[in-house]
Amino acid sequence: MEYVSHSERETERIGAELSRNLCAGDVVAFRGGLGMGKTAFVRGLARGLGFPGRVTSPTFTIVNEYEGGRLPLFHFDLYRLNGAGELWDLGWDEYRERGGVCAVEWSEQAPEAFPPDTVYVTLERGSDGDTSRRVTVTSPKEGAAT
Ligand SMILES: Nc1ncnc2c1ncn2[C@@H]1O[C@H](COP(=O)(O)OP(=O)(O)O)[C@@H](O)[C@H]1O
Ligand SMILES: [Mg+2]
Repeated sequence: MEYVSHSERETERIGAELSRNLCAGDVVAFRGGLGMGKTAFVRGLARGLGFPGRVTSPTFTIVNEYEGGRLPLFHFDLYRLNGAGELWDLGWDEYRERGGVCAVEWSEQAPEAFPPDTVYVTLERGSDGDTSRRVTVTSPKEGAAT
């Protein structure tokens, strides 16, 4: 699925829409550089799942946990990760078994961590203006639905 977003709000809305198809144990892995809207998209996921609180990038803590929505959401930011091993040290396997959704910014930092049924979300600069973003969602499930 491809979308074009023209604002942070619109990116959040795409995230909220995707959240409706997510199930316990799903992994959403983000690709795309700084300021492309990964955190905005995760904020949309959280809203869509019904989490009411603040969603900010877990850059220093690596993972934030948002509970209280339809499913728990575990929000990772691997920007400061020193190698994939650190992700397992953080309890990656345990997070994946906690019946929630794992959303992972900077997934490029640990590509081997992601299962075959991962939903990949790529955010790139679009062609019409500073706030335009091309959002590509590669979801095995969407493939099955169409
Ligand atoms: N279409 C867009 N989607 C998302 N963010 C946008 C968009 N256009 C401009 N922005 C701005 O870009 C920044 C994206 O920040 P953030 O979501 O933290 O990105 P990332 O997590 O990828 O570094 C915000 O300041 C936001 O206002
Ligand atoms: Mg971010």
